[in-house]
Amino acid sequence: MNILVIGGGGREHTLAWKLSQSTQTDKLYAIPGNPGMAEIAECVSEISISDNDALVSFALEKKIGLVVVGPEVPLTNGAVDAFTKVGIKAFGPTKLAAEIEGSKAFSKDLMKKYGIPTARYEIFTDADAARSYVEQEGAPIVIKADGLAAGKGVIVAMTLEEALAAIDEIMCDKAFGSAGSRVVIEECLIGEEASLLAFTDGTAIVPMVSSQDHKRAFDGDEGPNTGGMGTYAPAPVVTPDILARVQKEVLEPVIAAMQQEGRRYQGCLYAGLMITTEGPKVIEFNARFGDPETQVVLPLLESDLVEVMLACVEGRLKDVEVQWSKEAAVCVVMAAGGYPKAYHKGDVITGLHEAESVGDLVFHAGTAARDGSIVTAGGRVLGVVAKGSDIRAAVAKAYAGVAKIHFSQAHYRKDIAHRALERLH
Ligand code: AMP
Ligand code: GLY
Repeated sequence: MNILVIGGGGREHTLAWKLSQSTQTDKLYAIPGNPGMAEIAECVSEISISDNDALVSFALEKKIGLVVVGPEVPLTNGAVDAFTKVGIKAFGPTKLAAEIEGSKAFSKDLMKKYGIPTARYEIFTDADAARSYVEQEGAPIVIKADGLAAGKGVIVAMTLEEALAAIDEIMCDKAFGSAGSRVVIEECLIGEEASLLAFTDGTAIVPMVSSQDHKRAFDGDEGPNTGGMGTYAPAPVVTPDILARVQKEVLEPVIAAMQQEGRRYQGCLYAGLMITTEGPKVIEFNARFGDPETQVVLPLLESDLVEVMLACVEGRLKDVEVQWSKEAAVCVVMAAGGYPKAYHKGDVITGLHEAESVGDLVFHAGTAARDGSIVTAGGRVLGVVAKGSDIRAAVAKAYAGVAKIHFSQAHYRKDIAHRALERLH
């Protein structure tokens, strides 16, 4: 069948790479795609991923049998609903179900109602009320803009001053636009973070291998938050016991809750977790695959991704066996110097094939093709991924690939997977 991937980042390159391995895949399309995806898919950049009518017309014209929607924006914009309405199978939650990511207030209220472990919180639309709550609770405390803010609407305030400044910035200065007209203020959770992605058809749930992202820009988890500077899988902090608790206390109740609320959830559900001394607690849910978690999770999937996704869409996931490799995988993100603040674009990238020749996978995130070369075109430029028999082997192989790739002012963290490596000592 013909398959369409919506999106053009590292996550979507990885999805397209895995989908291309299926015997069920005839032709692969991507909107907009990227130069890395162009090696396996026909990329169409003229159509906006927010224009549901244009997306549907394209899919009808190309006789698409399965659409995979990568990013949160088209999901919260009802892309899956639009495809489904004309009878095209689409992997991902409906607009109503995607609100689990689109509104933090909705997601927190849902967790409270159904007893899913998460940080204690209050929701505010009035800045004065928010300020007095923060003064009463004290620091550390976490301030979050309600709506989508490209991962930047969360401030973990270590002092009262920082917390008050965050309220001013989000609610009064509208730093995140209308996403900040409501804020969620919550207890600061202490522990180690992990991501658990799961396939679901609305009833059956199949967790993927656990992973851990590195959100800060610099080594030692210093510097500003980014979209993610690297990942590894599996994450040893998610022990078999923790995984069983997450399944029972988080995944099963939330999928049942969504069904109960008339928001049946089909697709990939991403649980961002804090593993505290009391057990796992939900930091957030995302309505999609993680980026760059996908870059390490899907290379460990041994089953046919097209088959698994079709089973989710068709409500028959319980009949499918999903197999995972016992290996480990590591992704090192190569970013443009300066990211997540201002950075330069248009620098020529060399060594991509050399990195692949040492056995690494190179997923494009922010690149463009220009005059026969590949150039930088975004903050996160590439995800260099390696598999190994264990984390140590995968780390060594990923950095061997990184060493082959060059562009002006390339920046990457040198300590990806440090928490897993420390556990080996
Ligand atoms: P989010 O965009 O919700 O994933 O939040 C971004 C980052 O902020 C998370 O990955 C955590 O590192 C941190 N964070 C969010 N909520 C909390 C919390 N309640 N306690 C501690 N850290 C948090
Ligand atoms: N890696 C974090 C996210 O995808 O939201």
